[in-house]
Amino acid sequence: MLSYRHSFHAGNHADVLKHIVQSLIIESLKEKETPFLYLDTHAGAGRYQLTTKHAGKTEEYREGIARLWQRDDLPTELAAYLTVMTKLNAKGDLHYYPGSPLLAKFLLREQDKLVLTELHPSDYPLLRAEFAKDKRAQVLRQDGFQQLKSKLPPSSRRGIILIDPSYELKSDYQSVVNAVLEGYKRFATGIYAIWYPVVLRQQVKRMIHGLQNSGMRKILKIELAVRPDSDQRGMTASGMIIINPPWKLEQQIRILLPWLHKVLVPEGIGHTCVEWLVPE
Ligand SMILES: C[S@@+](CC[C@H](N)C(=O)[O-])C[C@H]1O[C@@H](n2cnc3c(N)ncnc32)[C@H](O)[C@@H]1O
Repeated sequence: MLSYRHSFHAGNHADVLKHIVQSLIIESLKEKETPFLYLDTHAGAGRYQLTTKHAGKTEEYREGIARLWQRDDLPTELAAYLTVMTKLNAKGDLHYYPGSPLLAKFLLREQDKLVLTELHPSDYPLLRAEFAKDKRAQVLRQDGFQQLKSKLPPSSRRGIILIDPSYELKSDYQSVVNAVLEGYKRFATGIYAIWYPVVLRQQVKRMIHGLQNSGMRKILKIELAVRPDSDQRGMTASGMIIINPPWKLEQQIRILLPWLHKVLVPEGIGHTCVEWLVPE
């Protein structure tokens, strides 16, 4: 049963971190003319209206994208991400937020390809409609984890695979490890970007150990916490685990993350972290 709807959380601090990292990876891939694949295993609806009854009810975006919107001290590393935000909100007020597939749609070039999978019966049609006229995109109502077997390696031999489950099922933590291993067997040079929430730290630790013990190299962890770890309900932090990050990413994030933390968490609590789980 799928009860998670991303529309309740769109534009929150975790989305901001995830989508900034996603945009930096895409921009790095664009430094070469050769095409690449953008594979989004858990794509969501694509576009979110922040003032509707979902996002408007939780208002999580107020402690996320709203804290960056229309600031005049934005680091240059945010340029691609904010270009898309500005295009979606051309009138100036913050109404829309791009999910990961929409961000990719705006940033990818004509020669690149997108494969997007989403299972939710309400979000899948929204995603399909969003890409109806986009010849670069394949939108499938299929299990995202399976795509790392069936769609890799891409014919271009270049690509980013975004793995962004809701972790509604506790088995998702292990499914991520299994799926990445399947993908890596077929496409060891791909860039794998895994999003994770910190709800119970132990669950993330187990997933990280699974990745560390897999034999894969070059695994970078990026994390931003808005509160200290807790055993109460709720997400206190989120992060991205990147396998084969572009060479510039570590440096870009080391510059950006302290700034982002200060802006997203003006109270000064929580933490940031950039570390190699497995070096080269
Ligand atoms: C965290 S949301 C994705 C958000 C999106 N990646 C973004 O950044 O805008 C996770 C999505 O995965 C979908 N989902 C859950 N299990 C799935 C599966 N096995 N395969 C594909 N989609 C799945 C959910 O319906 C939900 O929309």
